[in-house]
Amino acid sequence: MKILGIETSCDETAAAIVENGTKILSNVVASSAEMHAKTGGVIPEQAARQQVRSVLPVIETAFKEAGLSEKDIDLVAVTVGPGLIGSLLVGIETARTLSLLWGKPLIPVNHLVAHIYANWLTNEPEFPALELVVSGGHTDLVLMRGHGKIEWIGGTRDDAAGECFDKCARLLGLSYPGGPAISKAALEYKKTNGMQLFPRPMINDDNFDWSFSGLKTAVLREVKSNPTSLKLRRAELAAQVQEAITDVLVEKTLRAVKKFEPRSLLLAGGVAANLRLREKFQEEIARRKIKIDFRVPPPGLCTDNAAYIAAYAYFVHSPTGWQQLKANPELTIVGQI
Ligand code: KG4
Ligand code: ZN
Repeated sequence: MKILGIETSCDETAAAIVENGTKILSNVVASSAEMHAKTGGVIPEQAARQQVRSVLPVIETAFKEAGLSEKDIDLVAVTVGPGLIGSLLVGIETARTLSLLWGKPLIPVNHLVAHIYANWLTNEPEFPALELVVSGGHTDLVLMRGHGKIEWIGGTRDDAAGECFDKCARLLGLSYPGGPAISKAALEYKKTNGMQLFPRPMINDDNFDWSFSGLKTAVLREVKSNPTSLKLRRAELAAQVQEAITDVLVEKTLRAVKKFEPRSLLLAGGVAANLRLREKFQEEIARRKIKIDFRVPPPGLCTDNAAYIAAYAYFVHSPTGWQQLKANPELTIVGQI
């Protein structure tokens, strides 16, 4: 079964064709991040306008790269939420029209759950699986006992991990998106001691929740305390931010592994592209001698793309009529479409 996936929830316009939920035949992403870098963040109206410009060329390229035509497609899958309403509507209206025109069933996709399915694009992990989903707007820990069987374990009480990376990057004078910028700047810092400059909020609390807004405030205080030295200390502060965020993500997640004893641990979402986070998980799993199938998709499949949208549609598969397709900007990871 070949599925066309369409993703337009924020500032990436993406289309992919995936066979049987695992084989990527094409995967095309056009990002307007460069445009948003000039303003230090996404301006929703500009993102939506850019989606309108990119959506059809991106779909056309996805077909070209796969060497296929619409006749070869079995289903059309599209993100319905969460995301920016203007951006979401571009993908939804496009998918609805194509489905009607081509007479192909339509699958509405939860973007957050779909992120997890980037892990199915390599080979299928075993259930029960614990997933840490860390994106620009969400930080959720969920337990999956099967396709469509998702239980929410914990999440952030304020800012998402990606949002924290983005906001701290801005405070440090680094570009948008902040995660890759912080990660790159941190590479230039040669660690001299293990001093922790920033707090690890809620790290010892007996729950599976996070809080990242205090970290951002601590970074602001540090920057304000000595603005003239920011240029000299940028790499050090970036490394300190990255260490603080990754420490709490790893600690709370591995505590959940201990409690729920899943067979697999899967990372997903843009922040999962962070090399330090991946490395720290590997180190701690080995150090604590935890027996688990730990997986994280290749970095390019962690950030927004449409390959995992198509993979989700294959495994979760719940078609709807074009008349019923609705955008849901506030959709949660356990929300009903
Ligand atoms: O999943 P995603 O591509 O889009 C959303 O659904 O939000 O995640 C975007 C987020 C941004 O906050 C970005 O700064 C972060 O993922 N990100 C990273 C890295 N690459 C992207 N954060 C840390 N390290 C990275 N290498
Ligand atoms: Zn995403």
